[in-house]
Amino acid sequence: MAQEDVFKKLVAHCKEYGFVFQSSEIYDGLGAVYDYGQNGVELKNNIKKYWWDSMVLLHENVVGLDSAIFMHPTTWKASGHVDAFNDPLIDNKDSKKRYRADVLIEDLIQKFEEKINKEVTKARKRFGDSFDEAKFCETNPRVLANQEKINTVQERFAKALNANDLEDLRQIIIDYEVACPISGTKNWTDVRQFNLMFATEIGSTADGAQKIYLRPETAQGIFVNFLNVQKTGRMKLPFGIAQIGKAFRNEIVARQFIFRMREFEQMEMQFFVRPGEEMKWFEYWKEMRMKWHKAMGMGEEKYRYHDHEKLAHYANAATDIEYKMPFGFKEVEGIHSRTDFDLTQHQEHSGKKIQYFDPELNKNYVPYVIETSIGVDRMFLSIMAGAYTEEDVEGKDGKKEKRVVLKLPAVLAPIKLAVLPLVKKDGLPEKARAIVDELKFNFNCQYDEKDSIGKRYRRQDAIGTPFCVTIDHDSLEDDSVTIRYRDTMEQERVKIADLQGIIAQKVSMKELFKQM
Ligand code: GAP
Repeated sequence: MAQEDVFKKLVAHCKEYGFVFQSSEIYDGLGAVYDYGQNGVELKNNIKKYWWDSMVLLHENVVGLDSAIFMHPTTWKASGHVDAFNDPLIDNKDSKKRYRADVLIEDLIQKFEEKINKEVTKARKRFGDSFDEAKFCETNPRVLANQEKINTVQERFAKALNANDLEDLRQIIIDYEVACPISGTKNWTDVRQFNLMFATEIGSTADGAQKIYLRPETAQGIFVNFLNVQKTGRMKLPFGIAQIGKAFRNEIVARQFIFRMREFEQMEMQFFVRPGEEMKWFEYWKEMRMKWHKAMGMGEEKYRYHDHEKLAHYANAATDIEYKMPFGFKEVEGIHSRTDFDLTQHQEHSGKKIQYFDPELNKNYVPYVIETSIGVDRMFLSIMAGAYTEEDVEGKDGKKEKRVVLKLPAVLAPIKLAVLPLVKKDGLPEKARAIVDELKFNFNCQYDEKDSIGKRYRRQDAIGTPFCVTIDHDSLEDDSVTIRYRDTMEQERVKIADLQGIIAQKVSMKELFKQM
């Protein structure tokens, strides 16, 4: 199946099974804003817990924070967001559509990559088992020509971004004849910068309302609380502050479902270190965060690092952890060495000293910072994309049928177990209810007695429930049930008394944490 089709199916699946809905859908929706349904909110909460516990429980020198979305407006002047948190925009004069110039160029690079992939797929078909992909890519003239184009555009693109050269960004679009997908023409305006922050007002107009912003990142709430946490928690460097919360950006190119939203959620951790030790900690967190992703078992080959060529205004090193989405490798998390930029800026703009006294060095200094920043929604999308599977299985009468199953990591699954009486009579529902009443304190359970057992299994497969427990007539006699495993569809007879232990072991985060 083509990857575009997989993505379309995934979006439809998210809606059909109560994971993600378009915001205000009855009013035809609001662009790039989404709501999480009954299963989505459970998955999202589990992702957040997996992140929070890995930070705050596993690291005795990382503590939590929950700061407000509204902050003093000077915060954003100090952080550089008022002046520099911009996207370069370009309009097509015929369609009047507005685009991000950098996204048009990234799409152009992707087109060259797709051409290479097509050549490779064709050759693989032709040569079969003896196909040597590396050698083919080193020698095939069409692959080499496209690779050369990628390298040239990438180099020019990075240079233009670093120098904030808007004219050359436009010139790349002109030189490579990028056309507007709507009008099909190459009739472009100049490139202009556009600030991404949403503004609103605090206080009534009579009192003299003040312009404030909805935070575009949660990180600044951590920086302005550095001394509060350090002093009240008697924290010694190195230490980190972790926070999960909403962020808002007026994204112009809003597409790819929950990948790029206007209201989204971040999980950020700022790790404060001695100046000069930042590269050591940058490497530490880079590795640690990759282990966190891989521990979920979605496939090692689905992740890669992407080191930044253009560094943000506050960083001296940065890398992304990318995940192979149905639309290519995309950033899910950023790890940045932010130097002492933010704390120094807040010190200057507030006029308050923000320094740490290092007892070992016997001196005061502004700490350096390593940041790990991951979007909950992007993480959600990557997990859903990795989990969505269509399988041919043998159905009733030996006929082949399609099974749609979400192979979610058991610890993240919205519902951990479904409890299913084989029939709706003979005391089986009561026995099943008693099991739910016992296990509901430990796990998110779902009771279901409607339709055939096969249909009920399929419903649970579609929402990623890892365990289905079936109660039959024998259960009344021997206090045993059949547990059916989602991925293998294998069944096992177990004692009701052992259920809690079996499931607890399989949905424990401890096993994942041990790999980190
Ligand atoms: N504090 C640093 C920071 O905000 P970023 O790279 O702009 O860095 C960090 O954002 C992460 O937040 C991204 O890796 C992504 O997962 C998520 N993110 C950023 N913009 C987003 C958007 N418009 N929609 C969804 N997630 C977004």
